Amino acid sequence: MSKPASTSGGGLRDVVAAPSSICYIDGEKGILIYRGYNIHELAEHSTFEEVIYLLWHGRLPKRGELDEMNAALAANRSIPAGLIALLKAFPRDAVPMDALRTAISALVFYDPERDDNSLEAASRKALRLTAKFGTVVAAIDRIRKGKEPLDPKPGLSTAANFLYMLNGEEPMDVEARALDIALILHADHEFNASTFAARVTVATLADLYASITSAIGALSGPLHGGANEQVMKMLMQIASVEKVDSYVQEKLTSGQKIMGIGHAVYHTEDPRATHLRKMSRELGIRQGETKWFDISHRIEGIIVEEMTRKGKPIRANVDFYSASTYYMLGIPIDLYTPIFAVSRISGWTAHVLEQLGNNKLIRPRSEYTGEMDLKYIPIEQR
Ligand SMILES: CC(C)(COP(=O)(O)OP(=O)(O)OC[C@H]1O[C@@H](n2cnc3c(N)ncnc32)[C@H](O)[C@@H]1OP(=O)(O)O)[C@@H](O)C(=O)NCCC(=O)NCCS
Repeated sequence: MSKPASTSGGGLRDVVAAPSSICYIDGEKGILIYRGYNIHELAEHSTFEEVIYLLWHGRLPKRGELDEMNAALAANRSIPAGLIALLKAFPRDAVPMDALRTAISALVFYDPERDDNSLEAASRKALRLTAKFGTVVAAIDRIRKGKEPLDPKPGLSTAANFLYMLNGEEPMDVEARALDIALILHADHEFNASTFAARVTVATLADLYASITSAIGALSGPLHGGANEQVMKMLMQIASVEKVDSYVQEKLTSGQKIMGIGHAVYHTEDPRATHLRKMSRELGIRQGETKWFDISHRIEGIIVEEMTRKGKPIRANVDFYSASTYYMLGIPIDLYTPIFAVSRISGWTAHVLEQLGNNKLIRPRSEYTGEMDLKYIPIEQR
């Protein structure tokens, strides 16, 4: 009997599961690249829509190509009345990520190509689904607050449209750009848990909606996308800079983790955190409320110092400063993870299309640690 190769520490750390030309990470140097472009270049100069195009097509769009894709996104942003009726039937206290997972799964009923599993149809479904994602999240929030969902506005970007549909008024440019940058930073991250879940599902030739539903489930956990909500809850619990030191020390001595800190791949600064730290600070100064940034910054300072002293240098990850950034944008805390999904749908769909383009069923082996050769004992004799 041939035995599968042994896994080292579990969690598939550092195991290369497949080739991919979408995203590159150097965890030692803190480098993140989408399709050849460093994340710092993209965060400073591009828009989320350009990044969507880049992830899907492997290169930045020309003006006409971007205009065409933006027109297609605008034409597909509205959600079907049947889905709105379904959202209205959800309990008012439903967790938004649960509502989102169910809503995205249900959208397949309304897709005109739901029976076509070709790569070409999947890429059209990717556009339709990406266009609708922010609309679904905003509708979930308005409906649970007893308000009618708003129709998207054709001329607005994904970020501006989302804030408009959430709050009922168009955001200031600086707010829309802050969210736009956050969407760029969250768009892809190689074989993270949710992307891998999406690839595993679509590799069975299940359809794109099934694979994105898997991805949303994986994203919802506190060790993945759910961490940003936990960070904001922690900041609110601490409530003042003076209380940070005792809070962090207590967590560390009792062996508990601080949310938003540490990363499975980065062993230095998460390059996305660099931009979110800056945005959190700038939005705080602009709005005359730097408390959340100050508490975050103090936590980060202590953790970095303490853990470096212990020889385990961990740093802030993408979720740490996105919490205070979203708070300053007036976004409800339990929408932080759904917003992560509004961005990551671009990366998920790029990976699904890449997987479908050269598909092989993903089926690893386990390292069996159980017993062998046991004899069946009748239930009365056990
Ligand atoms: C992301 C995460 C799961 C990575 O876990 P990992 O790969 O096991 O992390 P590492 O191997 O680098 O951990 C090294 C050490 O630092 C500790 N550590 C890691 N993250 C920590 C945190 N957030 N707070 C306190 N200690 C932490 C680990 O316990 C480990 O210590 P040990 O050797 O005594 O067990 C982990 O850092 C974590 O749970 N972070 C909080 C959740 C979070 O922010 N997730 C979003 C990720 S983008």
